[in-house]
Amino acid sequence: MSLEEELSKLRVEVERHNKLYHQHDNPEISDAEYDALYLRLKELESLTKSLDSSSPTAKVGAKPRRSFEKHKHLKPMLSLSNVFNDEEFRKFEDRVTKWTSQKNIEYSIEPKFDGIGISITYENGKLTKAVTRGDGAEGELVTENVRQISKIPHEIEFDAPNIVELRGEIFFRLNDFNRLNQKLEKENGKKFISPRNAAAGTLRNLDSEIVKTRPLDIFFYALGGCSSDLNFVSQKEFFSFLNKNNFPTNELTSYGDINHVTRSVEVILSSRDNLDYEIDGAVVKVNDFQLQEKLGFVSKAPRWAVAWKFPASEKFTKVNDVLFSVGRTGVVTPFAQIEPVLLSGANISNVSLHNMDELKRLDIMVNDTVLVKRAGDVIPQIVKVNHDVRDASAKPVDIPDTCPSCNTTLHLDGPFLKCTNGMSCKKQLFGFFEHFVSRKAMNIEGLGYKINKHLINLGYVKEVADLFKLKKYESELKSLEGFGEKSIDNLFGSIEASRSPTLEMFINSLGIPEVGETTASSLARYFKSFAKLRFADFDALKQMDNIGEVVARHIVTFFEQDPIGIDSLLAELSIQDFVVGEDSHLDNLKIVITGSFKNFSRDELKQLIKQRGGIPSSAVSSKTDYLIIGENAGSKLKKATEFGIELITEDKLDNFLKL
Ligand code: IVH
Repeated sequence: MSLEEELSKLRVEVERHNKLYHQHDNPEISDAEYDALYLRLKELESLTKSLDSSSPTAKVGAKPRRSFEKHKHLKPMLSLSNVFNDEEFRKFEDRVTKWTSQKNIEYSIEPKFDGIGISITYENGKLTKAVTRGDGAEGELVTENVRQISKIPHEIEFDAPNIVELRGEIFFRLNDFNRLNQKLEKENGKKFISPRNAAAGTLRNLDSEIVKTRPLDIFFYALGGCSSDLNFVSQKEFFSFLNKNNFPTNELTSYGDINHVTRSVEVILSSRDNLDYEIDGAVVKVNDFQLQEKLGFVSKAPRWAVAWKFPASEKFTKVNDVLFSVGRTGVVTPFAQIEPVLLSGANISNVSLHNMDELKRLDIMVNDTVLVKRAGDVIPQIVKVNHDVRDASAKPVDIPDTCPSCNTTLHLDGPFLKCTNGMSCKKQLFGFFEHFVSRKAMNIEGLGYKINKHLINLGYVKEVADLFKLKKYESELKSLEGFGEKSIDNLFGSIEASRSPTLEMFINSLGIPEVGETTASSLARYFKSFAKLRFADFDALKQMDNIGEVVARHIVTFFEQDPIGIDSLLAELSIQDFVVGEDSHLDNLKIVITGSFKNFSRDELKQLIKQRGGIPSSAVSSKTDYLIIGENAGSKLKKATEFGIELITEDKLDNFLKL
């Protein structure tokens, strides 16, 4: 990439991060990463003597991106290990009895709130600091923002010690979250994806005046560090102190022995759907503080508490219609329009029914009652149809013979209905276009649903390559509401910057069925140039040890049929050949990542692995070489242990990646 290309790419990137940070409170990268990008931009501008008044570095009066000051907690903020059922909880209790040599342990049980942990320091009764969890040892000072939350007392009225850290979870109630999203959508078309994200974004907002307008809420649940003039014998006594001083605590909290724990977890689980805030489990703590002390903690989790995680949330609702949508590969997918339900913090109104076999398996009709399920970030699904309550209003699904977009006769390909009209079908072109320009593909900024529709429906883009010939249509773009000169400049900046993609980016952009990021990366490594891949035959592809017959067949068919107009694209782009990095000590190793990390985002880790020749993979199999585990590692860890795969924890990463 030339300096000029890097420069123009970086301008667009920095501008994008500025927007995410200042306008949407939704930063994707850390302050340190941003600073590095910004410095590089300045360096490039000075190297190329390029001064551009629209550059993010030239903006007078632009708010600097400020990082919050760091602050060390008096006592670390721990995380919790998980149990998922009664049996696992009994094992936890066995350990507790063994370590304390006590039977009949009393526990406190509370919901596990899905928000953002906070530690608030009171000195001589006055709120002086509020610190996020950070890495557990130190977090960020967000005191001014926390002062805006009306539920949080600024003073401890009774029995105030010299110093105390009171800990709790900041969150949005669902109604408040929905209202906030409606407002944000109206203002700038962007929304938070979950109440938790909204709470995190708001808490890290630079402008505490904005925080003031957003009704964040809090439940207090734990004592951090404190001076010796404050003494509690138990969690229960600590809670009465909180209540006496008007610190909000949760009404579902209760105390009792192991049998009570089981019942209480049941009660919390069954109230979950009626709560107006998100919970993802219950937290069970040994009530007695002396016993807590005796138990201590291992690595980062206490031995005296555990998170009892709930299964994915499920709700019954009604099917209002079953419709069919055309995807980028021509597959026509049935989906149910349902009476909206709130599941794991998201309002669900459309659920995919995947294919024709699934339609049959479910035996679903319009107006049926169905059970919808969603686990955390996972795509919602229909678990079953309640046939017992089907009534005379039930109507069979109207399965189309022709494509709902272009009217071409549909064919059945295995369980899939397919439109074979390729890019002449506007919905397919639209789907492919969206994929092609997306962040993980060609990463072209400044396009979105509305403008893509505009470009395709008005015929400015008949094949993807037309995007790179757009200049002459500038005036037509201007006619689009909300798309001014500035947006047009940014868009063209981004289009220009994308003209020399890396080989793996380009392969991923092609949208070959079953070829995602990981496979694209392996193909780039193996074939090194696009021409070699394009003309590779089935046997050559099969030589690769992570390409099976199905994927090889998809690749060959894709290049034979060329549904996207590859030659026109090649005329516009100059694709970089794959170059082996200097450090390739992870050459061809299959590495899976699970859990979350203090010092890396998952994308960063993937990048680092790739730069060293490794293949980041999504699922654990017997072929996996390493599993990198962060906090809250789940089923992948279990599977990897079964296969005897070597585990890499975050503290070993520097060594593993040779950083
Ligand atoms: S007690 C060592 N109580 O869960 C005790 N934490 O996975 C940890 N959380 O970072 C704190 N609800 O942010 C506690 N009722 C509750 C909680 C709770 C949610 C969060 C907290 C912590 C994370 C641990």
